[in-house]
Amino acid sequence: MTDFYAVIGNPIEHSKSPVIHHAFAQLTHQDIQYERVIAPLDEFTETVQGLISQGFKGANVTVPFKLEAFAMANRLTERAQDAGAVNTLIFDSQGIIGDNTDGIGLVRDITKNIGVSFSGKRVLLIGAGGASEGVLHPILATQPELLIITNRTLDKALNMVKRVEARDEVLYVSVSAYAFDDLHGQQFDIVINATSAGLSDSQLPLPSSIFAPNALAYDMMYGRITPFMAFAKQHGAMVFDGLGMLIEQAAEAFLVWRGIRPPTAPVIEMFKQQAKA
Ligand code: ATR
Repeated sequence: MTDFYAVIGNPIEHSKSPVIHHAFAQLTHQDIQYERVIAPLDEFTETVQGLISQGFKGANVTVPFKLEAFAMANRLTERAQDAGAVNTLIFDSQGIIGDNTDGIGLVRDITKNIGVSFSGKRVLLIGAGGASEGVLHPILATQPELLIITNRTLDKALNMVKRVEARDEVLYVSVSAYAFDDLHGQQFDIVINATSAGLSDSQLPLPSSIFAPNALAYDMMYGRITPFMAFAKQHGAMVFDGLGMLIEQAAEAFLVWRGIRPPTAPVIEMFKQQAKA
């Protein structure tokens, strides 16, 4: 029997998730259908309930509904609580479980696909919005030497640091917030752009000296060469966009739903070939 899943967003027509999940299903011999569902901006809850009543088993949630999905879930996984947002819903007999696979998707792409370890590294996380919050804890769990969060609005980065410090947990990672201007003289091994500046082709005011030798520059955005990526390349960093993260977060959701981890390398390769064509 076919199991049904969906990705809910607004807009949603450009989502790659159906192609990714159908590729996973084929690779793992799973009988699923996965579709795009647009929810009117004020009808996210009704849209989810509609899917449940049609017998759907789960859904991914994308912009702008990740906070509403968080609020709607009856139960939250620890990583959803850490992220404060939900990108994966599981529908079962007891209701709705909210999970978040974005952070683990980023970490897996960097460590497994790109092959760069966070351990002992100096990491710069740029941005303090939802995308940045979503990856913060999974990055900290990899035990870098230090993590600096920088953001145009410094207060938001400071608040993220405060929330990390407020957690009753021993962390061996030094975490702090810096204004862009205070980054002069600092160097990082891994620089992650979690801002939406690339959407408007805006350059971030970063010093050109922030990239350590062999640094990795990673833009969580996918589908365009952002000014950040061009800048990082110009200053000697190894540059990646968010394609691998997109596919890894989907793989983690597929694992949660189906109990089987799909191979991601062939799917990443398929998208890279399509981009070249
Ligand atoms: P998302 O869910 O994609 O993270 P968001 O919560 O609106 O979206 O956060 C957008 C992030 O991109 C913020 O860190 C924002 O900086 P501010 O907090 O100062 O607004 C950052 N951002 C967006 N456009 C930017 C730009 N042109 N320059 C620098 N930072 C930018």
